[in-house]
Parts: sequence; structure tokens; C-alpha cells
Amino acid sequence: MTDEILLDAQNLVKHYGSVEALRGASFTARAGEVTALIGDNGAGKSTLIKCLSGAEQPDSGRILLDGKEITLDSPTTARRLGIETVYQDLAVAPELDPAANLFLGREIHRKGILGKLGMLDKAEMRRQAVREFQRLGVTLQSTDVPIGSLSGGQRQSVAVARSVVWASKVVFMDEPTAALGVVQRERVLDVIKKVRDQGIAVVLISHNMPEVLSVSDRVEVLRLGKRVARFDAEGTQLEDLVAAMTGALTQEEAA
Ligand SMILES: Nc1ncnc2c1ncn2[C@@H]1O[C@H](COP(=O)(O)OP(=O)(O)OP(=O)(O)O)[C@@H](O)[C@H]1O
Ligand SMILES: [Mg+2]
Repeated sequence: MTDEILLDAQNLVKHYGSVEALRGASFTARAGEVTALIGDNGAGKSTLIKCLSGAEQPDSGRILLDGKEITLDSPTTARRLGIETVYQDLAVAPELDPAANLFLGREIHRKGILGKLGMLDKAEMRRQAVREFQRLGVTLQSTDVPIGSLSGGQRQSVAVARSVVWASKVVFMDEPTAALGVVQRERVLDVIKKVRDQGIAVVLISHNMPEVLSVSDRVEVLRLGKRVARFDAEGTQLEDLVAAMTGALTQEEAA
């Protein structure tokens, strides 16, 4: 574990109409670590991730990356800063094949005049995609079919691969293993560890507490739109997490 704080969110507030999804939520992630973000349904986890990946804008609060305050006005801005996200409601293009999905928004163009005319280098994208899928242990029978015809789990694996291929600082994964069978789940967890070992901050949302304790270095607990507790995973028991999520234990005072 390191002590380098890479991402530091302070007192984020987010309303959806009259619903206060975040009520001064704070969150910290470190480079080279997996930080789990846990909490009951509706605690605000997805909203927090959306605010930290540019998909939503907080009403107030500060976000620091590498100690510098940043404004994430769009997912594109976040990506430019090295922040990638696998959303709970998956954002893949169902009509495109896995290689095209991997390069979505970052297409490689053909060289010369054809490229200038917008012609894509599909062969090169396919070559690179096959290499990356192999490196990350994503097995697909075919990379030529539209992603809409793959199983939910395979689609999820492609979305996970896409985020880790492009991330240089932070990867957010909102329940990346929820739809997966045992084998695919293990693969995604292996990918998560590989990415962490490359020095990236991985943020994992999961309702699976044994999984949280086995894969993460630290755990942050959100309840009713606020961080209420944080743990080093080592030495923490399942019951500690449950107590924090349900409010039986409160470490942090309401800000
Ligand atoms: N787009 C939206 N419009 C209105 N309310 C929303 C919207 N998104 C989230 N909320 C509300 O904000 C609160 C937090 O929701 P959020 O999706 O962040 O929870 P979560 O912790 O991710 O839950 P889960 O574990 O079920 O995914 C909930 O009360 C939810 O109804
Ligand atoms: Mg959610």
C-alpha cells in the first residue's frame, strides 16, 4: 500500500430535484490501490462516481486530483485527465463489434488522405484490440460480432477492458462483477489486481462483501449520501462493514 492520495473529493453535494443524493460526501483513492466504495441501495455510490467521472456535476464541494483542484464538466474532460469509468448502466454501443467498442471515441484513422477523409483503420484497431483482450484475459468466441449479440457478462468484460486500457490515473467500476458467473468474475477481479499493480487507483463498487474484502486495500462506506466510515481491508471483518453500512457504527461525524 502507498500513502499517495491521488483523488480527493471533499464535501460533495448533489440534488436531483428534491432528492439529496449526496449530502457532503467525501472520498479518497490512492494510486496503486483498490478502494472499495460500499453502502446500501440508494446510499449515493453511483451518484458519487458520476460526479467524479464528469457524468454529473456536483452542486458544491471540491475534487482534487494529484493535489490540484479540478472541474469535471464532462466525461471527456475526465478521460483527458486519465479517469475512466465502467458505469452500472453499461455504456457500450450494441451495434458495434468488441474492437470498435474498445476504440469508441478514440478511433484510429487510416494514414494519409483516406484518414483525413475520416476512413478508419479497422484492421489496426482489431489487431490492437485482440492483443489487449488477450493481455487482460477477456475471452470472446469472435471479435467480429456486434456486442449486442454477446452475453451480459461478456459485454461487461469488454466494458471493463475498455476502461483499463485507457486509464492512466483512476478507474471507477460500478458493480463490474454483478452480472458475471464465477469464472468471468474471477477474471475481472484478476484484471482489477493487474491494473492496480500498474499504479492506477481502482475504485470498486460492490455489494459482495467477501469480494470487497478479498480484492480491496481500503474500504470507504457511504450512508445516506455521506461517508460514514473508512477501513483498511486487512484485519477488517465482514461484520464491521455491515455495521457501518447500516449505521450501527459511525466513525466520521456528519460534516
Ligand atoms: N437521475 C436521478 N434522478 C433522480 N433521483 C436520482 C437519480 N439518480 C439517483 N437518484 C437518487 O439518488 C439517491 C442515490 O442513488 P444512487 O444511484 O447514487 O445510489 P447507489 O448507492 O448507487 O444505489 P445502488 O446500490 O442501488 O446502485 C437515490 O435516492 C436515488 O433515487
Ligand atoms: Mg448504484
